[in-house]
Amino acid sequence: MISETLQPVKELNEDEMGLIQWIKFKGWFIFDLPYFIKERQFKNGLELGAKGGRSMYRVLKTNKDIHLTGIDLWIPMDGSAYKKNAQNETKCRRKLNSFSNRTTLIKGDAKEIAEEIEDGTFDFIFYDLQCSSMSDFHRDMIQRWLPKIRKGGLLIGRDFRDFRDSLYRIGFKEEDIQRCTIGKRVSERLEYIVVQ
Ligand SMILES: C[S@@+](CC[C@H](N)C(=O)[O-])C[C@H]1O[C@@H](n2cnc3c(N)ncnc32)[C@H](O)[C@@H]1O
Repeated sequence: MISETLQPVKELNEDEMGLIQWIKFKGWFIFDLPYFIKERQFKNGLELGAKGGRSMYRVLKTNKDIHLTGIDLWIPMDGSAYKKNAQNETKCRRKLNSFSNRTTLIKGDAKEIAEEIEDGTFDFIFYDLQCSSMSDFHRDMIQRWLPKIRKGGLLIGRDFRDFRDSLYRIGFKEEDIQRCTIGKRVSERLEYIVVQ
């Protein structure tokens, strides 16, 4: 009998719940970002910190009409995740190859590249530059890139909590920083600021 072979659904213990929360915090933004963008029907976005193209891939796959620009230095830097950073350029280009008609990839220092971009270009910027070598530079970097977002567009980040001070020093208040939502669900990690 089938009913005899079915096991009751196992209740998760505290450790298992903790693990799920950790996974959601560490990686869930990868799934949240594409749908957050889709709900807003954005058409032109930028990711600062493209790395191996992981989050760009998901955004492009979910949003069929979007054009996405990705910028990265792609050079080895401090931190175990960046030892092989030079290889991430090849990885990123290969991963996004099937979206090449909707993708622009730029190699270089985002600080300098900002000078070449027209103001108001993007519907949103996904700011993902939080590696240790950048820790002192977020304020300057964000100030350079904010004008590149059109009025009413969004600056989105997954680690704004790590550099709140930089945002406050730019002039943002806590109430300007909102948690992203996907439908009714609130993202564990993604936040955004509306550009006025
Ligand atoms: C946290 S990782 C990005 C992760 C990526 N968005 C993903 O989905 O997997 C940060 C990236 O920022 C890049 N980066 C750091 N400083 C930079 C700078 N000044 N200009 C351009 N890219 C930079 C690093 O090379 C690294 O690949």
